[in-house]
Amino acid sequence: MTVLLLGGSPSSPSTTWRLQQLVGERLAALGHRTGALQVRELPALALLRADVRDPAIADAVARVRDADAIVIGTPVYKASFSGVLKAFLDLLPQDGLADKLVLPLATGGSQSHMLALDYALRPVLASLAPRHILPSIFATSEQLPWDPELGLRPAPAIAVRIAAGVAQLHDDLQRITPAAHVLAVAA
Ligand SMILES: Cc1cc2nc3c(=O)[nH]c(=O)nc-3n(C[C@H](O)[C@H](O)[C@H](O)COP(=O)(O)O)c2cc1C
Repeated sequence: MTVLLLGGSPSSPSTTWRLQQLVGERLAALGHRTGALQVRELPALALLRADVRDPAIADAVARVRDADAIVIGTPVYKASFSGVLKAFLDLLPQDGLADKLVLPLATGGSQSHMLALDYALRPVLASLAPRHILPSIFATSEQLPWDPELGLRPAPAIAVRIAAGVAQLHDDLQRITPAAHVLAVAA
């Protein structure tokens, strides 16, 4: 199955993206095909102007369409999800997540806004008609220390949530028809 890591942090390096990459590596080890799309790498003017005819934007929208699952990640910004991620989600068709499983991830500076995923991002995702939105995973940047040699070293409580999220997404992916098959039949 095809899983797209959709990164919504404007920063590099990004704690959120590192978390997404860890989840992607685990899913790849379970046999899924993973791809990466960071909104920050899309052409800024086309994104701001919602120019869906821009080739890079059109390609990004197509990659979302062709994925079976989306691991969507965002830093908490001003008690919500990032503006660049919203700019990209605004470009998707109304049913842009149809038939897809979605695993939302967020990182924040503190626990104060840990519900941002659920009160801010989840309703936006739901409006795009996904098959299912899995329970969100939130971690503070402190719980996700980075070791230059060993990579991301999640705190034990977060490691448990990551393992559960990966296992649930893997299980759910076993039960669905690949997006590529659905698109071929529809053509
Ligand atoms: C502009 C800005 C706004 C932020 N607002 C919040 C916030 O409201 N609540 C919070 O917990 N953290 C906030 N943070 C901290 C980030 O969410 C946190 O550092 C996050 O892990 C950054 O992820 P990244 O490295 O993937 O960009 C903010 C950071 C920035 C730069």
